[in-house]
Amino acid sequence: MPNLDDVLDLAVNAAHSAASGLRETWMNSNARVLKRTKHDVKLSADINSEKIITEIIIKERPQDGIIAEEGGESQIDNDGVWIIDPLDGTVNFSHGHPHFCVSIAWLWKGEISVGVIYDVVRDELFTAAKGRGATLNGQKISVSKTVDLAQSMIGVGFGQSTPQGEGRNNFNTLGAEVQKLRISGSAALDLAYVAAGRYDGFWERELQPWDIAAGLLLVKEAGGMVQGMATDENPLESGGVIASNEPIFNRFSKIIRNKD
Ligand code: IPD
Ligand code: CA
Ligand code: CA
Repeated sequence: MPNLDDVLDLAVNAAHSAASGLRETWMNSNARVLKRTKHDVKLSADINSEKIITEIIIKERPQDGIIAEEGGESQIDNDGVWIIDPLDGTVNFSHGHPHFCVSIAWLWKGEISVGVIYDVVRDELFTAAKGRGATLNGQKISVSKTVDLAQSMIGVGFGQSTPQGEGRNNFNTLGAEVQKLRISGSAALDLAYVAAGRYDGFWERELQPWDIAAGLLLVKEAGGMVQGMATDENPLESGGVIASNEPIFNRFSKIIRNKD
């Protein structure tokens, strides 16, 4: 396996480089809208950020594969594979809302081994390397110690649509049992916040690998639990994520799985 510190440094360098352009575009509100759908938007900033990240990565590690939101997949059967969300929270960004980030993960032989999430406006860098814990701006972080779901703050997300059917029922049931639900508009930052103990848990369905790959490792390395909608599902494959600290996980996941 390549040296994890080197890979982590590369991911951080790529995230910081992309962030400069994102920050400038966000501050000047001059992103071009490339496409609009009812609940989403695609900006020139998404494309520009991804170009910067992939160029830096390919230069250093041309042998690795890449799965990136805007550019698709290449060499994904290779041992090392990068999963990149060049701008998570695009809708927030497009409204001038500062809650967005860059999310970069690196897999070695299918295992998420490095994760970097960078909150561009707040200058908060969340990192994790497999077996080495998670950090925020260089300081170790861990999930919250909340033991009672009734005292918890939980992040939830409804990406492409408003809550419907089962999702809406889960939202209502969960909302009645927790202190607060939050919809932040960035799944990657939601997971980073679980890792940092700012949220006690997070749940969303229908996510893409780039939304969650880095965040999944952060939560695990910060001592939290991460599962798919079913216990044997891999969130990276299924897109459904339930993540929290250990004490509330049982009750929280039962509600989401309609098993209470
Ligand atoms: C979205 C955000 C949002 C989540 C959506 C994602 P994007 O990613 O993570 O919080 O609810 O499902 O698509 O489009 O901003 O990269
Ligand atoms: Ca995303
Ligand atoms: Ca994105």
